[in-house]
Amino acid sequence: LMSAAAAALAVSGATAVQAACDDGEMVIKFSHVTNTDRHPKGIAASLLQERVNEEMNGTACMEVFPNSTLYNDDQVLEAMLNGDVQMAAPSLSKFEQFTKVFRIYDLPFMFKNIEAVDAFQASDTGQAMKESMVRRGLLGLQFWHNGLTQISANKPLISPEDAKGLKFRVQPSEVLKANMEALGASPQPMAFSEVYGALQSGVVDGQENTWSNIYGQKFFEVQDGTTETNHGVLDYLVVTNVDWWEGLDPAVREQLATILEEVTNERNAAVGEVDAEARQAVLDAGGEIRELTAEQRQAWVDVMKPVWEQFADDVGQENIDAAQAINS
Ligand code: LMR
Repeated sequence: LMSAAAAALAVSGATAVQAACDDGEMVIKFSHVTNTDRHPKGIAASLLQERVNEEMNGTACMEVFPNSTLYNDDQVLEAMLNGDVQMAAPSLSKFEQFTKVFRIYDLPFMFKNIEAVDAFQASDTGQAMKESMVRRGLLGLQFWHNGLTQISANKPLISPEDAKGLKFRVQPSEVLKANMEALGASPQPMAFSEVYGALQSGVVDGQENTWSNIYGQKFFEVQDGTTETNHGVLDYLVVTNVDWWEGLDPAVREQLATILEEVTNERNAAVGEVDAEARQAVLDAGGEIRELTAEQRQAWVDVMKPVWEQFADDVGQENIDAAQAINS
Protein backbone atom coordinates (compact mmCIF):
# COMPACT_ATOMS: atom_id res chain seq x y z
CA LEU A 1 0.00 0.00 0.00
CA MET A 2 1.18 3.50 -0.76
CA SER A 3 0.27 6.52 1.29
CA ALA A 4 -1.01 9.70 -0.33
CA ALA A 5 2.21 11.45 0.71
CA ALA A 6 4.33 8.79 -0.96
CA ALA A 7 2.14 8.99 -4.06
CA ALA A 8 2.65 12.75 -4.20
CA LEU A 9 6.38 12.21 -3.88
CA ALA A 10 6.27 9.68 -6.70
CA VAL A 11 4.85 12.34 -8.98
CA SER A 12 7.20 15.14 -7.97
CA GLY A 13 10.29 13.52 -6.50
CA ALA A 14 13.60 13.07 -8.26
CA THR A 15 14.77 10.05 -6.28
CA ALA A 16 13.66 6.43 -6.19
CA VAL A 17 10.26 6.05 -4.69
CA GLN A 18 9.57 2.81 -2.94
CA ALA A 19 6.05 2.04 -1.97
CA ALA A 20 5.76 0.37 1.39
CA CYS A 21 4.61 -3.04 0.29
CA ASP A 22 2.55 -5.14 2.68
CA ASP A 23 3.39 -8.73 3.53
CA GLY A 24 1.87 -11.10 1.01
CA GLU A 25 1.64 -8.54 -1.79
CA MET A 26 3.40 -9.44 -5.02
CA VAL A 27 6.07 -6.81 -5.65
CA ILE A 28 6.26 -5.42 -9.19
CA LYS A 29 9.39 -3.38 -9.79
CA PHE A 30 9.21 -0.89 -12.66
CA SER A 31 12.53 0.69 -13.61
CA HIS A 32 12.99 3.65 -15.93
CA VAL A 33 15.48 6.38 -16.71
CA THR A 34 13.65 9.70 -17.01
CA ASN A 35 12.39 12.29 -14.56
CA THR A 36 8.87 12.00 -13.23
CA ASP A 37 7.19 15.36 -13.82
CA ARG A 38 6.53 17.13 -17.17
CA HIS A 39 7.56 13.88 -18.81
CA PRO A 40 5.24 11.50 -20.70
CA LYS A 41 6.91 8.34 -19.37
CA GLY A 42 7.50 9.66 -15.87
CA ILE A 43 3.86 10.71 -15.51
CA ALA A 44 2.54 7.45 -16.99
CA ALA A 45 4.70 5.27 -14.74
CA SER A 46 3.68 7.24 -11.64
CA LEU A 47 0.00 6.95 -12.59
CA LEU A 48 0.40 3.22 -13.17
CA GLN A 49 1.99 2.84 -9.74
CA GLU A 50 -0.77 4.85 -8.10
CA ARG A 51 -3.56 2.84 -9.71
CA VAL A 52 -1.99 -0.60 -9.14
CA ASN A 53 -1.37 0.20 -5.50
CA GLU A 54 -4.88 1.47 -4.99
CA GLU A 55 -6.86 -1.05 -7.01
CA MET A 56 -4.76 -4.14 -6.38
CA ASN A 57 -4.08 -3.39 -2.73
CA GLY A 58 -3.51 -6.62 -0.83
CA THR A 59 -2.60 -8.48 -4.03
CA ALA A 60 0.13 -6.50 -5.75
CA CYS A 61 2.40 -3.58 -5.01
CA MET A 62 4.27 -1.60 -7.65
CA GLU A 63 7.54 0.19 -6.96
CA VAL A 64 8.63 2.63 -9.65
CA PHE A 65 12.31 3.55 -9.82
CA PRO A 66 12.76 6.59 -12.12
CA ASN A 67 15.94 8.49 -13.09
CA SER A 68 18.11 5.38 -13.68
CA THR A 69 18.18 4.85 -9.90
CA LEU A 70 17.79 1.08 -10.26
CA TYR A 71 19.13 0.32 -13.75
CA ASN A 72 20.02 2.21 -16.88
CA ASP A 73 18.56 1.02 -20.17
CA ASP A 74 21.65 -1.04 -21.02
CA GLN A 75 21.14 -3.16 -17.91
CA VAL A 76 17.41 -3.31 -17.41
CA LEU A 77 16.51 -5.95 -19.99
CA GLU A 78 19.13 -8.39 -18.66
CA ALA A 79 17.87 -7.69 -15.15
CA MET A 80 14.35 -8.43 -16.35
CA LEU A 81 15.41 -11.77 -17.81
CA ASN A 82 17.05 -12.55 -14.46
CA GLY A 83 13.82 -11.74 -12.63
CA ASP A 84 15.25 -8.74 -10.77
CA VAL A 85 12.75 -6.28 -12.26
CA GLN A 86 9.32 -6.98 -13.75
CA MET A 87 8.52 -3.96 -15.92
CA ALA A 88 10.33 -1.25 -17.83
CA ALA A 89 9.63 1.05 -20.75
CA PRO A 90 12.83 1.52 -22.75
CA SER A 91 12.67 3.49 -25.96
CA LEU A 92 12.26 1.45 -29.14
CA SER A 93 15.89 2.26 -29.99
CA LYS A 94 17.09 0.11 -27.11
CA PHE A 95 15.99 -3.35 -28.25
CA GLU A 96 18.75 -3.88 -30.84
CA GLN A 97 20.11 -6.93 -28.99
CA PHE A 98 16.70 -8.58 -29.21
CA THR A 99 15.04 -7.59 -32.48
CA LYS A 100 15.49 -5.42 -35.57
CA VAL A 101 11.77 -4.78 -36.14
CA PHE A 102 11.82 -1.50 -34.24
CA ARG A 103 14.43 -0.02 -36.54
CA ILE A 104 11.64 1.51 -38.60
CA TYR A 105 11.05 3.99 -35.77
CA ASP A 106 14.62 5.29 -35.97
CA LEU A 107 14.60 5.98 -39.70
CA PRO A 108 14.68 9.77 -40.09
CA PHE A 109 11.49 11.60 -41.06
CA MET A 110 9.55 8.30 -41.18
CA PHE A 111 6.53 9.54 -39.17
CA LYS A 112 5.23 13.08 -39.48
CA ASN A 113 3.77 13.18 -35.97
CA ILE A 114 2.85 11.01 -32.98
CA GLU A 115 -0.66 10.44 -34.36
CA ALA A 116 0.97 8.66 -37.33
CA VAL A 117 3.09 6.58 -34.93
CA ASP A 118 -0.05 5.69 -33.01
CA ALA A 119 -1.90 4.65 -36.16
CA PHE A 120 1.02 2.51 -37.36
CA GLN A 121 1.19 0.78 -33.98
CA ALA A 122 -2.53 0.10 -34.05
CA SER A 123 -2.16 -1.85 -37.33
CA ASP A 124 -1.69 -5.64 -37.31
CA THR A 125 2.00 -5.19 -38.17
CA GLY A 126 2.46 -2.68 -35.35
CA GLN A 127 0.71 -4.89 -32.81
CA ALA A 128 2.65 -7.99 -33.87
CA MET A 129 5.91 -6.19 -33.05
CA LYS A 130 5.04 -6.37 -29.35
CA GLU A 131 5.58 -10.12 -29.61
CA SER A 132 8.78 -10.01 -31.66
CA MET A 133 10.98 -10.87 -28.65
CA VAL A 134 8.92 -13.61 -27.01
CA ARG A 135 11.42 -16.29 -27.98
CA ARG A 136 14.07 -14.23 -26.20
CA GLY A 137 11.96 -13.98 -23.05
CA LEU A 138 10.52 -10.48 -23.40
CA LEU A 139 6.91 -9.52 -24.05
CA GLY A 140 5.78 -6.05 -25.10
CA LEU A 141 2.54 -5.02 -23.39
CA GLN A 142 1.84 -1.48 -24.62
CA PHE A 143 3.48 1.32 -26.57
CA TRP A 144 3.91 4.60 -24.71
CA HIS A 145 4.54 7.79 -26.64
CA ASN A 146 6.98 10.59 -26.03
CA GLY A 147 7.46 12.80 -29.08
CA LEU A 148 9.49 13.82 -32.09
CA THR A 149 13.20 14.47 -31.68
CA GLN A 150 15.18 17.68 -32.02
CA ILE A 151 18.92 18.23 -32.39
CA SER A 152 21.32 20.46 -30.47
CA ALA A 153 25.03 21.18 -30.29
CA ASN A 154 27.56 23.57 -28.81
CA LYS A 155 27.15 25.74 -31.92
CA PRO A 156 24.13 26.81 -33.97
CA LEU A 157 22.75 24.12 -36.29
CA ILE A 158 20.81 25.59 -39.18
CA SER A 159 21.94 23.63 -42.20
CA PRO A 160 22.93 19.95 -42.05
CA GLU A 161 26.52 20.99 -42.89
CA ASP A 162 26.68 22.67 -39.48
CA ALA A 163 26.65 19.20 -37.89
CA LYS A 164 29.59 17.96 -39.95
CA GLY A 165 32.56 16.79 -37.89
CA LEU A 166 30.74 17.11 -34.56
CA LYS A 167 30.25 14.29 -32.05
CA PHE A 168 26.65 13.54 -31.08
CA ARG A 169 25.39 11.30 -28.33
CA VAL A 170 22.92 8.79 -29.72
CA GLN A 171 20.91 5.97 -28.21
CA PRO A 172 22.42 2.54 -28.94
CA SER A 173 20.79 2.00 -32.34
CA GLU A 174 22.46 1.21 -35.64
CA VAL A 175 19.97 3.39 -37.47
CA LEU A 176 20.57 6.38 -35.22
CA LYS A 177 24.31 5.94 -35.78
CA ALA A 178 23.79 5.83 -39.55
CA ASN A 179 21.72 9.02 -39.36
CA MET A 180 24.63 10.88 -37.79
CA GLU A 181 27.07 9.42 -40.28
CA ALA A 182 24.83 10.68 -43.09
CA LEU A 183 25.35 14.15 -41.63
CA GLY A 184 29.11 13.64 -41.60
CA ALA A 185 28.97 13.63 -37.81
CA SER A 186 30.31 11.08 -35.38
CA PRO A 187 27.77 9.11 -33.29
CA GLN A 188 28.63 8.22 -29.70
CA PRO A 189 26.21 5.75 -28.05
CA MET A 190 25.92 6.51 -24.35
CA ALA A 191 23.57 5.88 -21.42
CA PHE A 192 20.93 8.56 -20.90
CA SER A 193 22.13 9.37 -17.39
CA GLU A 194 25.58 10.29 -18.71
CA VAL A 195 24.54 12.70 -21.44
CA TYR A 196 24.38 15.94 -19.45
CA GLY A 197 27.88 15.43 -18.08
CA ALA A 198 29.24 14.47 -21.50
CA LEU A 199 27.76 17.62 -23.06
CA GLN A 200 29.03 19.78 -20.22
CA SER A 201 32.57 18.43 -20.31
CA GLY A 202 32.73 18.41 -24.10
CA VAL A 203 33.09 14.62 -24.46
CA VAL A 204 30.36 15.09 -27.06
CA ASP A 205 29.33 18.26 -28.88
CA GLY A 206 25.65 17.58 -29.24
CA GLN A 207 22.66 15.31 -28.83
CA GLU A 208 19.21 14.53 -30.19
CA ASN A 209 16.12 14.04 -28.08
CA THR A 210 12.53 15.09 -27.39
CA TRP A 211 11.49 18.30 -25.66
CA SER A 212 10.61 16.50 -22.44
CA ASN A 213 14.06 14.90 -22.27
CA ILE A 214 15.85 18.10 -23.31
CA TYR A 215 13.97 19.91 -20.56
CA GLY A 216 14.06 17.14 -17.97
CA GLN A 217 17.81 16.58 -18.30
CA LYS A 218 18.54 20.29 -18.80
CA PHE A 219 20.53 19.61 -21.96
CA PHE A 220 19.66 23.11 -23.17
CA GLU A 221 21.77 24.57 -20.37
CA VAL A 222 24.95 23.13 -21.83
CA GLN A 223 24.14 23.56 -25.53
CA ASP A 224 24.19 26.58 -27.80
CA GLY A 225 20.57 26.06 -28.78
CA THR A 226 18.15 23.40 -29.98
CA THR A 227 17.09 23.16 -33.61
CA GLU A 228 13.48 22.13 -34.14
CA THR A 229 14.00 19.49 -36.82
CA ASN A 230 11.35 16.97 -35.70
CA HIS A 231 13.57 14.49 -37.53
CA GLY A 232 12.92 11.37 -35.47
CA VAL A 233 10.54 9.63 -33.11
CA LEU A 234 11.10 8.60 -29.51
CA ASP A 235 8.55 6.04 -28.43
CA TYR A 236 8.55 3.36 -25.74
CA LEU A 237 7.61 -0.27 -25.29
CA VAL A 238 6.32 -1.29 -21.89
CA VAL A 239 7.97 -4.65 -21.59
CA THR A 240 7.87 -7.57 -19.18
CA ASN A 241 9.39 -11.01 -18.65
CA VAL A 242 7.33 -13.64 -20.54
CA ASP A 243 7.68 -16.32 -17.84
CA TRP A 244 6.76 -13.93 -15.05
CA TRP A 245 3.74 -12.63 -16.98
CA GLU A 246 2.50 -16.07 -17.92
CA GLY A 247 3.03 -17.32 -14.38
CA LEU A 248 0.66 -14.72 -12.92
CA ASP A 249 -2.73 -15.78 -11.66
CA PRO A 250 -5.04 -15.13 -14.67
CA ALA A 251 -7.32 -12.76 -12.76
CA VAL A 252 -4.32 -10.77 -11.47
CA ARG A 253 -2.81 -10.62 -14.94
CA GLU A 254 -6.06 -9.42 -16.42
CA GLN A 255 -6.51 -6.70 -13.84
CA LEU A 256 -2.94 -5.51 -14.30
CA ALA A 257 -3.29 -5.57 -18.10
CA THR A 258 -6.53 -3.58 -17.90
CA ILE A 259 -5.03 -0.92 -15.63
CA LEU A 260 -1.99 -0.67 -17.90
CA GLU A 261 -4.19 -0.32 -20.98
CA GLU A 262 -6.27 2.42 -19.36
CA VAL A 263 -3.17 4.32 -18.22
CA THR A 264 -1.71 3.94 -21.71
CA ASN A 265 -4.81 5.32 -23.40
CA GLU A 266 -5.09 8.21 -20.96
CA ARG A 267 -1.44 9.26 -21.08
CA ASN A 268 -0.90 8.66 -24.81
CA ALA A 269 -3.85 10.95 -25.48
CA ALA A 270 -2.16 13.69 -23.42
CA VAL A 271 1.30 13.37 -24.91
CA GLY A 272 1.06 16.37 -27.25
CA GLU A 273 0.26 18.61 -24.32
CA VAL A 274 3.20 17.35 -22.23
CA ASP A 275 5.54 17.78 -25.20
CA ALA A 276 4.36 21.35 -25.80
CA GLU A 277 4.71 22.19 -22.10
CA ALA A 278 8.26 20.88 -22.04
CA ARG A 279 9.12 22.93 -25.15
CA GLN A 280 7.72 26.03 -23.50
CA ALA A 281 9.59 25.21 -20.29
CA VAL A 282 12.87 25.19 -22.24
CA LEU A 283 12.07 28.69 -23.52
CA ASP A 284 11.00 29.92 -20.08
CA ALA A 285 14.27 28.67 -18.63
CA GLY A 286 16.21 30.70 -21.20
CA GLY A 287 16.90 27.94 -23.71
CA GLU A 288 17.29 28.96 -27.34
CA ILE A 289 15.02 27.21 -29.86
CA ARG A 290 15.82 27.55 -33.55
CA GLU A 291 12.90 27.05 -35.88
CA LEU A 292 13.62 26.08 -39.47
CA THR A 293 11.87 27.31 -42.58
CA ALA A 294 10.36 24.59 -44.77
CA GLU A 295 13.29 25.00 -47.13
CA GLN A 296 15.88 24.74 -44.37
CA ARG A 297 14.21 21.64 -42.99
CA GLN A 298 14.11 20.05 -46.42
CA ALA A 299 17.91 20.24 -46.54
CA TRP A 300 18.03 17.92 -43.47
CA VAL A 301 15.54 15.57 -45.11
CA ASP A 302 17.64 15.41 -48.27
CA VAL A 303 20.83 14.53 -46.40
CA MET A 304 19.34 12.02 -43.95
CA LYS A 305 16.61 10.22 -45.86
CA PRO A 306 18.99 8.04 -47.94
CA VAL A 307 19.51 6.07 -44.68
CA TRP A 308 16.15 4.41 -45.42
CA GLU A 309 17.77 2.41 -48.22
CA GLN A 310 20.47 1.04 -45.89
CA PHE A 311 17.85 -0.52 -43.63
CA ALA A 312 15.02 -1.34 -46.04
CA ASP A 313 15.78 -5.08 -45.84
CA ASP A 314 15.76 -5.14 -42.01
CA VAL A 315 12.63 -3.07 -41.75
CA GLY A 316 10.67 -4.36 -44.75
CA GLN A 317 9.77 -2.09 -47.65
CA GLU A 318 6.10 -2.97 -47.10
CA ASN A 319 6.32 -1.51 -43.58
CA ILE A 320 7.96 1.65 -44.87
CA ASP A 321 5.18 1.93 -47.44
CA ALA A 322 2.55 1.39 -44.73
CA ALA A 323 4.07 4.11 -42.54
CA GLN A 324 4.19 6.50 -45.48
CA ALA A 325 0.57 5.80 -46.40
CA ILE A 326 -0.43 6.76 -42.85
CA ASN A 327 1.51 10.04 -43.11
CA SER A 328 -0.26 11.17 -46.24
C1 LMR B 1 17.40 8.27 -24.30
O1 LMR B 1 18.22 7.42 -23.94
O2 LMR B 1 17.72 9.35 -24.80
C2 LMR B 1 15.94 8.00 -24.09
O3 LMR B 1 15.63 6.71 -24.49
C3 LMR B 1 15.58 8.21 -22.65
C4 LMR B 1 14.12 7.94 -22.43
O4 LMR B 1 13.79 6.94 -21.81
O5 LMR B 1 13.32 8.77 -22.86
